[in-house]
Amino acid sequence: MSLFITLAFLLASLTQASRIAPRQLKYSTVTGYFLQDDPSTNATSFNFTTTNFGLIDRAYASDPQGYTHLTQWQRFRREVSQLNRVAPRGVEYKVLYMGRHGDGFHNDAQAYYGTPAWNCYYSIRDGNSTITWADAHLSALGISQAVAVNRFWKSEIGNQKIPVPQTYYTSPLTRCLQTANLTFSGLALPHRYPFRPTVKELFREGISGHTCDRRGSKTYIHNAFPGYKIEDGFTETDQLWEALHGETSVDQDIRSKKVLDDVFSTDDSTYISITSHSGEIASILRVLGHRVFPLSTGAVIPVLVRVQTVKGESPTTASQSYTAICTCTSPPAITATTSDCTYPTATGVS
Ligand SMILES: *[C@@H]1O[C@H](CO)[C@@H](O)[C@H](O)[C@H]1NC(C)=O
Ligand SMILES: *[C@@H]1O[C@H](CO)[C@@H](O)[C@H](O)[C@H]1NC(C)=O
Ligand SMILES: *[C@@H]1O[C@H](CO)[C@@H](O)[C@H](O)[C@H]1NC(C)=O
Ligand SMILES: *[C@@H]1O[C@H](CO)[C@@H](O)[C@H](O)[C@H]1NC(C)=O
Repeated sequence: MSLFITLAFLLASLTQASRIAPRQLKYSTVTGYFLQDDPSTNATSFNFTTTNFGLIDRAYASDPQGYTHLTQWQRFRREVSQLNRVAPRGVEYKVLYMGRHGDGFHNDAQAYYGTPAWNCYYSIRDGNSTITWADAHLSALGISQAVAVNRFWKSEIGNQKIPVPQTYYTSPLTRCLQTANLTFSGLALPHRYPFRPTVKELFREGISGHTCDRRGSKTYIHNAFPGYKIEDGFTETDQLWEALHGETSVDQDIRSKKVLDDVFSTDDSTYISITSHSGEIASILRVLGHRVFPLSTGAVIPVLVRVQTVKGESPTTASQSYTAICTCTSPPAITATTSDCTYPTATGVS
């Protein structure tokens, strides 16, 4: 091709591209299906394993005549299919199963030292002389929590015929990589939908300046979890974590929206599993318009999401620079109730 033709072709494609109106995705939580989004449910005492994942026992408009042979989850699956069938153009319904990792060494250290001392002194170190909490691994408790969630999935698949995830995503932090592995190992999954999670950078915990939120290299993740896919563009080393500095919660919500946009615009699945963190799942819930629902370590929350494509451009880039975190020069006493630093109440949870 001559240079002229190449240029003309380029110009034509640019003109074409500029004619495509920008589109953005809008999210809302569809209430009335899960106890977790009901304002009268007490999140603190809620246990998803004793409540069928929180799926409300009820009739649906889509229930067939004499449906007593179908479980609630089988009928829910029909209901979601029906919602999608009759949805207006540009609207889709998706079900997210979002799991928080099991207890990690950083959770134990925070409990041991107390949150003020943890936040201002210990969290910025890699560990103490006995344990490492940088990119924390699961503790024995965390492993048992993930194994319990695995048992629960087994019983839900066997007894409830729950729709299993069609795709899996995980944070790149070790505690989530491990939790996903233990949670979904050995389940009777359909051949079409094997457990082969994709590691996604932006499902990581709030970037806090704490070493527990600094991820391992791509090579480390690949070697430790060879069955996992790593998303395109994932950098060898962690480019987002910065010592002593953290992203703002405004920016965390922007990147949560960005990663959800990425998933929903590239993945046709209706049932999607995400293994992430308390702070990040809290951020995703905000983006989805779900009420506040804190998860204990190992807990899973399902959300029925309405995804609507509308005209317009959504902000996808961070709008604020990282802020410096406050530190103490000497360690506050173990379980000190205050330090020289003050934090908004949500800080330091991961
Ligand atoms: C929610 O449950 C927690 C733990 O059981 C309890 O301490 C709290 O009082 C409950 N809150 C309400 C509003 O009932
Ligand atoms: C939830 O209930 C199960 C079954 O009774 C129990 O084994 C588990 O410890 C409970 N989980 C929490 C976080 O209380
Ligand atoms: C290190 O931290 C853990 C808390 O996770 C604690 O049990 C242990 O005693 C600490 N080690 C030292 C030497 O202080
Ligand atoms: C989980 O990890 C173990 C140990 O590395 C590995 O043998 C197994 O294949 C993994 N399972 C899944 C489902 O990724």
